Amino acid sequence: MDLAYLAELPKEEFVLRRQRVFEQMQDNSALIVFTETEKRRNNDCDYLFRADSYFWYLTGFNEPQSALLLIKKEGLCRSILFLRERDPLMETWHGKRLGVAQAPSVLNMNEAFGITQIQAIFAEKMQNLTACYYAQGWQTWGDAIVQSCFDEVIDWRPMLSEMRLIKSEAEIALIQQACHISALAHIRAMKQTRPNRYELEIEGEIQHEFSRFGARFPAYNSIVASGENACILHYNDNNAVLQDGDLLLIDAGAEFAHYAGDITRTFPINGKFNEAQRALYQLVLDSMKAAVKYLVPNSSFKAANEVAMEVMTDGLLALGILKGEREMLLAEKAVKRFYLHSLGHWLGLDVHDVGDYGQEKDRPLQIGMVLTVEPGLYIPSDADVPEQYKGIGIRIEDNLLITEYGNKNLTSGCPKEIADIEAIMANH
Ligand code: GLY
Ligand code: MN
Ligand code: MN
Repeated sequence: MDLAYLAELPKEEFVLRRQRVFEQMQDNSALIVFTETEKRRNNDCDYLFRADSYFWYLTGFNEPQSALLLIKKEGLCRSILFLRERDPLMETWHGKRLGVAQAPSVLNMNEAFGITQIQAIFAEKMQNLTACYYAQGWQTWGDAIVQSCFDEVIDWRPMLSEMRLIKSEAEIALIQQACHISALAHIRAMKQTRPNRYELEIEGEIQHEFSRFGARFPAYNSIVASGENACILHYNDNNAVLQDGDLLLIDAGAEFAHYAGDITRTFPINGKFNEAQRALYQLVLDSMKAAVKYLVPNSSFKAANEVAMEVMTDGLLALGILKGEREMLLAEKAVKRFYLHSLGHWLGLDVHDVGDYGQEKDRPLQIGMVLTVEPGLYIPSDADVPEQYKGIGIRIEDNLLITEYGNKNLTSGCPKEIADIEAIMANH
């Protein structure tokens, strides 16, 4: 298998993005974006660094202590990068740096300066400019540098988030690869799961598969939740022993070339759904399939979620988990007792990607958006429901690209039909 982990966007794409930003900036203005900071885990051990997604979007540069300054003055546009200076000793200890001399040609910038000079150079470049686009408080180390030395400070988040929301073909190819790797990891997890293994061993199997295909990082902390742990939505202890007869919910996605996949599958630890598990699982799957039909251009998350909730309500009534009059249960959204989150979210450089959803998640969907669809049902063990359903948590999550034909499932490589899951598990 080709370890395509050097895959990245064509360099021109970053230039084009900056051009589109310049087109939207007022004349005689500046825009400044700071990257993430390095974060300590304990004493002198840091978490591995990962660029701020907005900064990455405009630069494709992954070193800490960097900032991008765009200046539009009398119609002339200039991209300026601040970054760490070369330092042989530091590079021997911690790794190579791009350096100021190389940065303009490698990253298609007009100029580059050492980060230690940013305060002075920023002040100098700002002379005679009237507005600054800046996201106050987003990367707080930038706040002291920018201060509010402008008549007008404009938050760039709405502008850049809108741009990030509609994905280019090159971005879609990377997201597809993140989804593909994520799907392979879930299949491996299904094959490796059996009673008496630990949740964290299965997490390791997932990580192994990510690494094998060039995704060093998970896009978020993997959730490996057996039995009732599945009812904790962001469970991350991952330290329980897998029990025969329970389900295992795994929510895990690879980050590939900075783009996220986000898949959830729920399957039986012993390879065979029991009757109650099967009934609830099929209900979540049916609600997902109903929702997917509405995740198409000009429809919305809201419209799709209403359909999903209707399917769930009917199913829960039939199983005796909800009781009462159908229209009343629908009107009061009774299903929300067991379906605590929303149907999905945007997906891209961040797993919960940026972009406006509309007041009620009713923003019309557009071609080029990528999103998740992830209905779930979580029945607490103390719920007033038939005994056999207590303590079951199920979520199924796929990633969709909105297309002119409706949508394309980017995670279709990951099985979710009961028969397919049982067949995979039976053969291992
Ligand atoms: N993995 C987080 C989510 O599904 O939203
Ligand atoms: Mn997820
Ligand atoms: Mn998700």
